[in-house]
Amino acid sequence: MSFAGSSMIDPFGRSISYLRVSVTDRCDFRCTYCMAEDMAFLPKKDLLSLEELDRLCTVFIEKGVKKLRLTGGEPLVRKNIMHLVRQLSRHLDNCALEELTLTTNGSQLARFAQELADCGVKRINVSLDTLDPDKFRTITRWGDLSKVMAGIEAAEAAGLKIKINAVALKGFNDTELPAMLRWAHGRGMDLTVIETMPMGEIDADRTDQYLPLSQLRADLERRFTLTDIPYKTGGPARYVEVAETGGRMGFITPLTHNFCESCNRVRLTCTGMLYMCLGQNDDADLRAPLRASEGNELLSNAIDEAIGRKPKGHDFVIDRRTRRPAVARHMSVTGG
Ligand code: 5AD
Ligand code: SF4
Repeated sequence: MSFAGSSMIDPFGRSISYLRVSVTDRCDFRCTYCMAEDMAFLPKKDLLSLEELDRLCTVFIEKGVKKLRLTGGEPLVRKNIMHLVRQLSRHLDNCALEELTLTTNGSQLARFAQELADCGVKRINVSLDTLDPDKFRTITRWGDLSKVMAGIEAAEAAGLKIKINAVALKGFNDTELPAMLRWAHGRGMDLTVIETMPMGEIDADRTDQYLPLSQLRADLERRFTLTDIPYKTGGPARYVEVAETGGRMGFITPLTHNFCESCNRVRLTCTGMLYMCLGQNDDADLRAPLRASEGNELLSNAIDEAIGRKPKGHDFVIDRRTRRPAVARHMSVTGG
């Protein structure tokens, strides 16, 4: 059965056209701002199968999703993930879906870049917070920068457009960001910086890491000429053009600027929970209606009911008094 034509509109009139799917909560890195070193992951038996993920995504696409992003954890460490990508690419072929993309830490990209491109993936986001191999090892605990660089090269060779996402961390990469900007723009890649969000218990103190991007922007403006531009990718970043490099830079500022008004997205976890907001705890179980029948009607109804509960916005705060994370789950559950 098809539900084409029906679209998902939330109580605040926002149309939901963007689904982010965390295909695994596991990762081969342990970034200090993201995970504790000894993370407890979901038992494998709780995961949706790739077929179930495909079915869920397909229902969302029938209900109006135009952009689908695979995330994690690290999406490319999920076993047989290319099978799902290949399945989903049929929605690109028949134009139901406008964009299929992924966010990756780059560690496995050398292996998968060409196949992703063959499946119709055009752009990818690579998370990278520093270009210094030692600092890279420190921040990711387990990562190897040379592998990520090889991944980026493979992606370029395959013709994928790359956007680098860097989390802005006070005292860690703030002084390096001008160099990263020149590096990314020199290779024709966009660079987006992200504020740390208070999600999940980590080993460090987030107040020490938090760098408001308003401050970073002021610093950058001493060296670069930044002009606001209306460029949009369907995500929450605001973009500027950098006169000196001719490239584009994005700012994702959930904390210093409320980015919720134009939110068009919902997030699905690898166990079939739907989160209507990154910064709220409310979720909806889609696995039960998915498994309850072969048809998609129950599932479609459960999605409508969930979208009807999408909240107006998040309540993130990071200050010395609020030491607890705003939401208990880690970013790796919903993939940002
Ligand atoms: N705050 C901000 N960004 C985070 N990421 C992971 N955890 C956090 C956090 N607490 C980033 C990753 C990646 C993206 C999916 O989210 O670096 O770029
Ligand atoms: Fe893995 Fe990304 Fe989290 Fe780093 S930020 S541990 S790469 S999921």
